[in-house]
Amino acid sequence: MGAGRAVLLVLGLAVDIVALGGAPRPATAAPPTLRELAAARGIRIGAAISSAATLGDPTYAQVLSSEFDIAVSENQMKWGLIHPAPATYDYVDPDAQVAFAQAHGMAFRGHNLAWHNQNPAWLLAGPFTRDERIQQLRDHIHTVVGHYAGQLSEWDVVNEAFDGLADPAHDPWSSQIGFPDYLDVAFTAAHEADPSAKLFYNDYLIEAPGPRFDQVLALVAGLKARGVPIHGVGFQAHQGARPCDASCANDALTNMLRLHALGLEVAITELDVAVQLPATPAKLDEQASVYRALLQACLLAPNCHTFVMWGFTDTYSWIPALRPGYGAALPFDEQYQPKPAYAAMADTLANPPGPPSCAAYRTQPEAQAAFASGILGAPLLDPDGNGVACESLPVPTTVPVPSVVPAFTG
Ligand code: XIL
Repeated sequence: MGAGRAVLLVLGLAVDIVALGGAPRPATAAPPTLRELAAARGIRIGAAISSAATLGDPTYAQVLSSEFDIAVSENQMKWGLIHPAPATYDYVDPDAQVAFAQAHGMAFRGHNLAWHNQNPAWLLAGPFTRDERIQQLRDHIHTVVGHYAGQLSEWDVVNEAFDGLADPAHDPWSSQIGFPDYLDVAFTAAHEADPSAKLFYNDYLIEAPGPRFDQVLALVAGLKARGVPIHGVGFQAHQGARPCDASCANDALTNMLRLHALGLEVAITELDVAVQLPATPAKLDEQASVYRALLQACLLAPNCHTFVMWGFTDTYSWIPALRPGYGAALPFDEQYQPKPAYAAMADTLANPPGPPSCAAYRTQPEAQAAFASGILGAPLLDPDGNGVACESLPVPTTVPVPSVVPAFTG
């Protein structure tokens, strides 16, 4: 977006966006970091740490600790690395990462406790009975979550359950304990080991409405209905660069609000936006529009408090190995220079989208329905922030909860 002002419609509200550079600053003041801007909005912003060794690079450590206030291990807490042999737990690297975070006032997410990838060979070998599998899963979770009890704010407990279901050879949990029973086992054990950690189900390609999201919604609704201690859903958000407008933000917000209606939180857990190389300025602007839209959704949703990227510098992104010919997926380039995605996030945090206007409530049936169903939540009843509710707001009493919160348009 060029200099000057533009109007963006999200949830039927006009949001003034001042392009970075438009706001004059005293020449001496350092621009605020992402973590400072995010703290002012009540969310944490973070990045995955790719290995313990990268923390020895002073530039890496300086950018990580100044820009972010939450971190996660990209690989080091997965079964294969943290539990490489039946009686061996290796905490050297993950402990170093957690210690770094604590030394810099950063929170930490744990990732993950049950998945079909990156499992150690001994775990897949067997044979084990169903009861032994349940015991194995409970022991692992009690041990690892217990090791960090009181220190990690969030855990991804189960990762990509539907992929695991389709891959029984690599997923001992669904194939031997049963689906969704093993999720009940895993979340219950995690809560026993650390009652203070928020527990997430984590999955990919659920940032827009569709059958994949519906599947996840049904799964977590079942967990809630059974009284299983789950607190939220992680949207991995591995995305591709494309021009994103308000509809991208509305899509993500729709899903976030549907989870809010179930009493669940949302975290953006692994955001990156792959670009087909070479990365031109136009492609990096498209990439920035994706980062902006997801952050707008998180700021608008009352239940989104964590926004984490899968790394922060293109030097250590997993994308080039996964998708040859693609890369440049993160907000800093290989020289640790901020890219347009960084500017878009800083701008969004400095000029966040506001709640729906009273005009939208009065004139749009979708806004009224969402309000009446409670999906939008109490904070949005006072759009002007002056303690005054929308004065002529009709409050229909019999409006059903919409299955999908529509995007408001005016
Ligand atoms: C990826 C790591 O980034 C790679 O280094 C590793 O080789 C494979 O796993 N979804 C997840 C993450 O939940 O754990 C994955 O991380 C990326 C996809």
